[in-house]
Amino acid sequence: MLKLVHLSDLHLVPPGNELHGLRPEAQLQRAVSHIVREHGDADLCVVSGDLTHDGHPLAYAEVARQLARLPMPVHLMIGNHDDRAAFAQAFPDAPRMPDGFVQQAIDTSAGRIILLDTHQAGAAEGRLCSARLAWLAERIEESGPAPVYLFVHHPPFPVGLKRMDDIRLADAEALWAVLAASRTRPRHLFVGHLHRAIAGSWRGLPFSGVRGTTHQIALDFKTAGFAPVSFEPPGYGVVLIDEDTVVVHFADIPDEG
Ligand SMILES: [Fe+2]
Repeated sequence: MLKLVHLSDLHLVPPGNELHGLRPEAQLQRAVSHIVREHGDADLCVVSGDLTHDGHPLAYAEVARQLARLPMPVHLMIGNHDDRAAFAQAFPDAPRMPDGFVQQAIDTSAGRIILLDTHQAGAAEGRLCSARLAWLAERIEESGPAPVYLFVHHPPFPVGLKRMDDIRLADAEALWAVLAASRTRPRHLFVGHLHRAIAGSWRGLPFSGVRGTTHQIALDFKTAGFAPVSFEPPGYGVVLIDEDTVVVHFADIPDEG
């Protein structure tokens, strides 16, 4: 049994500043304390992007300081709100491709976990390119018969939230072409970006996404042009994987104040 913590959308700003009336560094502290207390025995943690709100170096430094409290290995991704150069400065040891893409394959007892970088500088929507797609195809191919799990920040499908659908992964068909041509189809797709607990399937591929640790995005199917913020409880995912099942629990982080 593999136990994985799926954390996403931390949106840190320089400590002492507010974002949507919340203090993201205090929110992250709550999240980390909850994970340490309740799920400190997890085998690994993946943070699926938007580590910061605007890529500020002081925000990355705070992310690094707080995530260092987690007892399990932590694997970081970047999202549309991140800054590739500032991330690289703050996390010089984070695995990345020679051309700077923040992606890696992690081999575990449950199979291979692949983190794919969909960040495009200056864009809110996600993008892939031939280099990233070729890398993905190779990582899946070399995994052989082992199960594969894929993490992306941007979901490659619409979910009914108008603004979020506008800024989903723009190159979804290119991603699908790689997955469809691969010998091993991923068992599960994990997404960030949505700031919501969400699950379903895309062309038969099961997916899940989790709440952020600070503000959430409202379950509002009407508003277009911007994503209304909501103050539902923050959360994260606890994923249990064995030979037969991939189980995703959505953990709420209680307000201890
Ligand atoms: Fe986000």
